[in-house]
Amino acid sequence: MKKILLIVDPGIDDSFAIMYALLSPKIDIVGIVCQFGNVSREDALRNSSFLLNLARREDIPLINGASAPLSGLPPEHYYDIHGTHGMGELNIKNTMFKNIYPFHKIYDLITKYGKDLTIVSLSPLTSLALTYLHAGSNIRDVKEIFVMGGAFLVPGNASHLAEANIYGDPHAAKIVTTHGEGITFVPLNVSHRSIVSKEMIHYLSLQTDAPFSPILKPLMDYYSEQYQLSMPGINGAPLHDVTLLSILTNEDHYTTVNRQIFVDTDDLTKGLTHADFRPVPEMVDDHPINKIVLDINVEHLLNDFMKVMNS
Ligand code: BDR
Ligand code: CA
Repeated sequence: MKKILLIVDPGIDDSFAIMYALLSPKIDIVGIVCQFGNVSREDALRNSSFLLNLARREDIPLINGASAPLSGLPPEHYYDIHGTHGMGELNIKNTMFKNIYPFHKIYDLITKYGKDLTIVSLSPLTSLALTYLHAGSNIRDVKEIFVMGGAFLVPGNASHLAEANIYGDPHAAKIVTTHGEGITFVPLNVSHRSIVSKEMIHYLSLQTDAPFSPILKPLMDYYSEQYQLSMPGINGAPLHDVTLLSILTNEDHYTTVNRQIFVDTDDLTKGLTHADFRPVPEMVDDHPINKIVLDINVEHLLNDFMKVMNS
């Protein structure tokens, strides 16, 4: 079992990722950092509390992550895609918050689990960047770091150039790509291919003894309806954040390339990620090399999703 610290902004696809992680026999969640992104930090905390509550896993610490990008500008949210509070039309306003820890709990977990810990970032990169700046050399001991983010040589989703997690805090993404080495980036290039259909979710929602059954269909119906606006005719929607978790726990089913990653912070090209994909790339001095996932086994990923969600 991988010990995983999740950084999330639920949001519907993050909610599916949290459910997947709670159900996966290969994942042991040691903490969930809630930060701004699809929704405000407060909504991210409430939505995560709601899911832990349903799963009876309130023992998992929830951690207060970043509430705004490093630029100091107000955060941009995506309530249009994720619903009034980030969970479609589900009414979860009365969920009690429990067991919420301050940001430095992240450092305690890094010290505690060190070489056994995997950090997974599924939101703008603010909390991860702050961890790089403040956890000192300890973060270098962490076993592996995975980031859902970036759009390489393909259109973005938050803008025509940029993927939402990078666009949400490009300065943070720049810190991560200049301080972090060997991080695996799972970009839109592959997450856009992981389309979970409404029929798959309908089938899962018939498993009436599973804790999440009642909420799967309302969440996907809402999310896929919103996706019609940007991807007309799509049946279902891409579950970006689940894509990362499935990749992480199925090592033989994806391929990566090692490249230096660059992030634009200028207004005009804000959040654009780029890398030199020529067979022999030109190297920039003192810039670390990270991994970019460029191909996945979609059929295997969707089967894995169904198997885990059905367990
Ligand atoms: C990523 O941005 C968010 O909207 C999603 O939750 C996902 O993490 C996709 O670009
Ligand atoms: Ca997310």
